[in-house]
Amino acid sequence: MNPVRVIERKRDGVRLDPAEVRDFFRAYQRDEVADYQMSAFLMAVVFNGLELSELEALLDVMIHSGATLDLGHLPGPRADKHSTGGVGDKVSLTLAPLAAELGMFVPMMSGRGLGHTGGTLDKLEAIPGYRTDLDLDAFTRVVEDVGYGMIGQTAEIAPIDRRTYDLRSVTGTVPCIPLIASSILSKKLAEDLDVLLLDVKVGDGAFIADRGMSDRLARTMVDLANARGVRTVALQTAMDRPLGVAVGNGLETDEAIATLKGAGPTDFRTLVVREAAEMAALARGRDGRPVPPDAPAHQLAPVVAEWSERAEAALDSGAAFARFLRNVEAQGGDPGACEADGPIAPAAVVRDVYAREDGVVTEVAPRALGRGVVALGGGRRKLGDTIDPSIGFEVLVAPGYEVDGGLLGRVHAASAEQADRAERILRDAIVLGVDRPEPLPLVLGRVGPDGLSPSEPPAE
Ligand code: URA
Repeated sequence: MNPVRVIERKRDGVRLDPAEVRDFFRAYQRDEVADYQMSAFLMAVVFNGLELSELEALLDVMIHSGATLDLGHLPGPRADKHSTGGVGDKVSLTLAPLAAELGMFVPMMSGRGLGHTGGTLDKLEAIPGYRTDLDLDAFTRVVEDVGYGMIGQTAEIAPIDRRTYDLRSVTGTVPCIPLIASSILSKKLAEDLDVLLLDVKVGDGAFIADRGMSDRLARTMVDLANARGVRTVALQTAMDRPLGVAVGNGLETDEAIATLKGAGPTDFRTLVVREAAEMAALARGRDGRPVPPDAPAHQLAPVVAEWSERAEAALDSGAAFARFLRNVEAQGGDPGACEADGPIAPAAVVRDVYAREDGVVTEVAPRALGRGVVALGGGRRKLGDTIDPSIGFEVLVAPGYEVDGGLLGRVHAASAEQADRAERILRDAIVLGVDRPEPLPLVLGRVGPDGLSPSEPPAE
């Protein structure tokens, strides 16, 4: 394999042989292809894309560049979800124990916040003592004992993805559907799953704001994962406003815990329940028969409705919270801190912010709030930065709310000056006007394998 020839052929729009793709990436892993050559190749992919056979080869070589879990001995279906990331998206913290409570095993590997979107690991680490760096053996034991575990991508998992992702982030080659799809799936499919639910966010606060591109990303990932035997569907969900009330790591952990205790904001709880029910329909189905990912809406809807009821009951009874506490203990965290009613990471200054005028909320800009958390030290500007989990916003209005001098939200800051800055960020993010807007529905659509309409919502 001549790397220059492979780059030239991709540059010229020639379809590569799957073996050429595999050889090129394996040679990169052995340091026989240089970073500058890989960068050139990735840029050629940004311009010319990858055909299915090339993409399947890329995904395969990425998965097998490192270790994969072997969980076939577990006495139940293995299921996980991946979100493309949003503002206020703390779903994984509540969903994983809930899914375990519904009879699934969840070996969840998550990421850190980077850019304006938060990351599950940072939220978990707001819990005193919680360890997200377990090795794969310890992680497997937690999944076996508790039903779910949550760690970061270890050095052993998909190392080619790690290296190429680092290159992509400094060469302008991140926003490219085949590269994103293979990168995300290389980690998730190393988890030895039966079922995968993808939450593809749409709107200003999403990693990919454009609806058309998010449709294509959802379809690509769904088709690739199903072709590898993992029953996979994607929900496209709203990110034109923050999810729930809390934005910021500690506050989001509080909100995830409140929801596990049977409370929590309605939109957040609704999405968690829907995702748990979709996973359970695919993983457990009805009468021991899982619902196939391409089942028509009339077949799927009653099963999702049934599992939704069970999910609601597991939240209201405290069973999902008890499962969460077992996981916190198993991963070195302090369950007492989660049982207490106070904030898990109290801020030095908490200030209410009231509207200065009347009007209808036309927009709550999630990206501005996510960037605000980063700017105030609650998120990371670059890998390795330490973060302050106490920083954040409670957003108490949503598009369509009437405001007449009432409370818009609350800022959580490290000092009075910082609270002034946070207040300006919150005020700028909440836009008041006259006409009631039409926000996106919480779940815009469901994407199954080929044959389903990308925007077809299941009947409820
Ligand atoms: N997340 C990933 O893991 N990979 C990408 O390429 C983009 C987002």
